[in-house]
Amino acid sequence: MGVYSTVMEAITWYTGLSPTAFFTILFMMAMVYRTVCGMFVSPEDYNKPPIVTAPSNLGLDGANIDAPEPVQLGEMTEQELRTYNGSDPNKPILVSIRGQIYDVSAGRNFYGPGGPYAMFAGKECSRALALLSFKPVDINGNLEDLSEEDLVILEDWEYKFIEKYVKVGQLVPEKSTQQNEFRGEIKDNPVDECK
Ligand code: HEM
Repeated sequence: MGVYSTVMEAITWYTGLSPTAFFTILFMMAMVYRTVCGMFVSPEDYNKPPIVTAPSNLGLDGANIDAPEPVQLGEMTEQELRTYNGSDPNKPILVSIRGQIYDVSAGRNFYGPGGPYAMFAGKECSRALALLSFKPVDINGNLEDLSEEDLVILEDWEYKFIEKYVKVGQLVPEKSTQQNEFRGEIKDNPVDECK
């Protein structure tokens, strides 16, 4: 107790401040010192590259390394492609560019439900990419009226996809209605098939 009151009296004697005011000022000075020091880099650290931290399941290209291995799916129609839109977690997410189908499951954070590019999942999206458009009316493979510049943009996208994702199939035209009707008939009358 004697030491405590001697120290408090000494503080008041030397600084002219009450102990409370003295410790408050001391604390504030320490905080200012810490803040100012944090604004500078030590000479040893000056030339070190910044440490970029990413979620542990993302590779350098932002692809999810935990995504299942892509499986070759061969030919499919736009209607079939639509079922690979990320709504079924057991199916891969596919995107088609110029009729080439890519497994973009590794980019689920982009194309999965709620992702910024979910509108492209399960779709042929060449036109939208060429025009940098998110309009549903542009999410198709119609390139007819596009300019040279639009096609160059599309080509850049294509390179990006070739580099980042695995091509797993090709888009084929929808079977004609006549063909479907014919198949339906065969299914309904399987005996006729053998005639
Ligand atoms: C406001 C404008 C936009 C911003 C700020 C933006 C931002 C981004 C960012 C940060 C990425 C990730 C880049 C990377 O991983 O390399 C990305 C990728 C992408 N963006 Fe955009 N974007 C914009 C507009 C667009 C438009 C207009 C389109 C097409 C219609 C588009 C389609 C895509 C696609 C397809 C990817 C690739 C995702 C992948 O790697 O699979 N973006 N965007």
